[in-house]
Amino acid sequence: MHRRWAVRASLQEVPEEEAVNMKDTIISVKHLVKVYKMGDLEVHALRGIDMDVQKSDFVAIMGKSGSGKSTFMNIIGCLDVPTKGEYMIDDVDVRKMNKDELAHLRNKKIGFVFQSFNLLSRTSALENVELPLMYNSKITSKDMRERSIRALESVGLASRAHHFPSQLSGGEQQRVAIARALVNDPVVILADEPTGNLDTRTSVEVMSIFQKLNTNGITVIIVTHEPDIAAYTDRNISFRDGRIQKDFRVEKPRNAAAELLTMPILTEEDTI
Ligand SMILES: Nc1ncnc2c1ncn2[C@@H]1O[C@H](COP(=O)(O)OP(=O)(O)OP(=O)(O)O)[C@@H](O)[C@H]1O
Ligand SMILES: [Mg+2]
Repeated sequence: MHRRWAVRASLQEVPEEEAVNMKDTIISVKHLVKVYKMGDLEVHALRGIDMDVQKSDFVAIMGKSGSGKSTFMNIIGCLDVPTKGEYMIDDVDVRKMNKDELAHLRNKKIGFVFQSFNLLSRTSALENVELPLMYNSKITSKDMRERSIRALESVGLASRAHHFPSQLSGGEQQRVAIARALVNDPVVILADEPTGNLDTRTSVEVMSIFQKLNTNGITVIIVTHEPDIAAYTDRNISFRDGRIQKDFRVEKPRNAAAELLTMPILTEEDTI
């Protein structure tokens, strides 16, 4: 009886709104520190990052070169481990995991998109998308193909399934990379400067895909140097010297799909 009252009292202490937020927190980072050691030299890349990301968030991480953005993304993407600090993703405590468990978590919950696409050049778009599924022994090759085609459809590229990367435009290659990131149904997409190598219209196309994915329930975190690109997200966080300098909501995010309708499509003749 006494215990039940204690539980009830502690629940009552949490305001309703906050309780909902706790449930929807997908990434929770506390006092994250990363020190790279190179011989005698120590580089303090992250000096204590605290951040909670909610399921519905679409976050842009900004900041000068060297401020720790990629280091942070690599840690939350389980590609690297912090020197100190706590990290929970989807209620899983990453600190307690060994290498194999981390690889499994990464494959299951996280989709990566890189600035330079990182597609295998001698492999078709479809096979590139299938790649993350190869690690899953439970999935049949028929399922693999179907899921990959669905992922390509979701980025509007089903008609390019059998093209090699060299036969695709930069924007199309990035969309294949997004399809590859999506194929395992991740909870989070992490993209480090995904529009860094793209022209304006193609960047807006990529942002429209991220906005659509985010509306469909996937948390998206991107790194960008461009305020124009950050304006399509709903939360901007800037890093400075390994710390968070600013963290604010974007009042009225730009709508990429709506803007695309008004943007001219350049033909080859226009560019000559
Ligand atoms: N593997 C590494 N070993 C040693 N130092 C590193 C390593 N990776 C990054 N650093 C250093 O850590 C700091 C943060 O680097 P990071 O790559 O996270 O910056 P960034 O904000 O992503 O920069 P950019 O905008 O140029 O991509 C830099 O001073 C960098 O030199
Ligand atoms: Mg970087």
